[in-house]
Amino acid sequence: METVGRNGAATTANQDSVLEGTRFVRACLRKPVDRTPVWFLRQAGRYMQEYRDVRKHHTLVEICKQPDIASEVTITAAEKLGVDAAIIFADLLLPLEPMGLPFEFQAGEGPVVHLPVRTPDDVKALRTDRAADLAYVARAIEKVAAHFGDRLGVIGFCGAPYTLASYMIEGGGSRNYVFTKQMMYGDGTSWRTLLDKLVTVLTDYCRLQVRAGADVIQIFDSWVGSLSLSDYRDYAFEASKRLVQAVQDMGVPVIYFGVETAGLLAQMAATGADVVGLDWRQPLDVGWREVGHTHAVQGNLDPITLFAPIEVIESRVKEILRAAGGRPGHIFNLGHGIVPNTPVENVQAVVRMVRDFRLENQNG
Ligand code: CP3
Repeated sequence: METVGRNGAATTANQDSVLEGTRFVRACLRKPVDRTPVWFLRQAGRYMQEYRDVRKHHTLVEICKQPDIASEVTITAAEKLGVDAAIIFADLLLPLEPMGLPFEFQAGEGPVVHLPVRTPDDVKALRTDRAADLAYVARAIEKVAAHFGDRLGVIGFCGAPYTLASYMIEGGGSRNYVFTKQMMYGDGTSWRTLLDKLVTVLTDYCRLQVRAGADVIQIFDSWVGSLSLSDYRDYAFEASKRLVQAVQDMGVPVIYFGVETAGLLAQMAATGADVVGLDWRQPLDVGWREVGHTHAVQGNLDPITLFAPIEVIESRVKEILRAAGGRPGHIFNLGHGIVPNTPVENVQAVVRMVRDFRLENQNG
């Protein structure tokens, strides 16, 4: 059995409290843990043979909509890697369909929304009363939660209002977010209505997931780094904050994640999220200082480091763990998702490195 405080995180903990809750949920709440928990963004995906085998027979959306398959993909990835949390297999775009916006994934292109939201009437037409159509995600979460019991944390997720609005308005991924920012700057009424509608649907969607057994909700604001600090504050922050707080009111911690967010971290933390996800572009301790030590952080290995020789991977993993310094409230992860062709054995090696790490007393 692992001892309390082996990496320095729990030296003042009382033994009993360390037994309550999974180490993943404890770390989200900045409670002392026996060792740093670890999981990976996009841990179930094309880099994994088992997932590719399932994908031969089903489209991505079919997998998401069949709880037996979605739960199996979720469980297989978490068990194969030996991680501390399982993120439900789903996709950010799923809530668009019940809002009245059909989409599809085109090979090599990512998601395509056929009728993007561009006008005030397009915004008015969006429905907010059908989040229950997403119950298939809840059924999958129930199966994953039943499988893991209290061995692993189960993560539900959704997109943040800004990031989902950008997909709806652009019709897919984007480089410059011109249509999104045009609505944001030029038609404040439509922009606010759109974000309000998203908060309504996403709150209902998260409630379904929490009731089904999600221990934590991660809110992906993947493309928020396209905003300046002022624009984030003026046009996106308030909707994110409302969603974060609505989910916390359901009784679970929230992880709020974005990419290229170095200039936004303090403001993102002001949403009140329990955990802020860090990308890999700045050292973990620098990011954590920006976020503030009153919040936990998650991150932040560059996913492409997983293609490096094992010694390089190890030095970067240790650098991150030393930067965390054993402070309660660090969840080891990548700075963004695992990409296709990543060697699975390197992902497994990172889990071992995190598990075996001990913080030295001096010189880190
Ligand atoms: O293991 C997990 O992390 C859970 C599964 C998961 C998927 N999508 C499945 C998926 C999660 C958490 C997501 C979230 C998601 N989806 C995000 C936010 C995360 C991030 O990366 O910031 C975003 C932006 C999306 C939208 C999306 N879905 C895009 C842009 C793409 C295309 C990417 C590509 O490389 O083709 C997807 C497709 C997708 N979603 C895949 C997976 C495993 C890969 C495609 C496939 O299987 O065909």
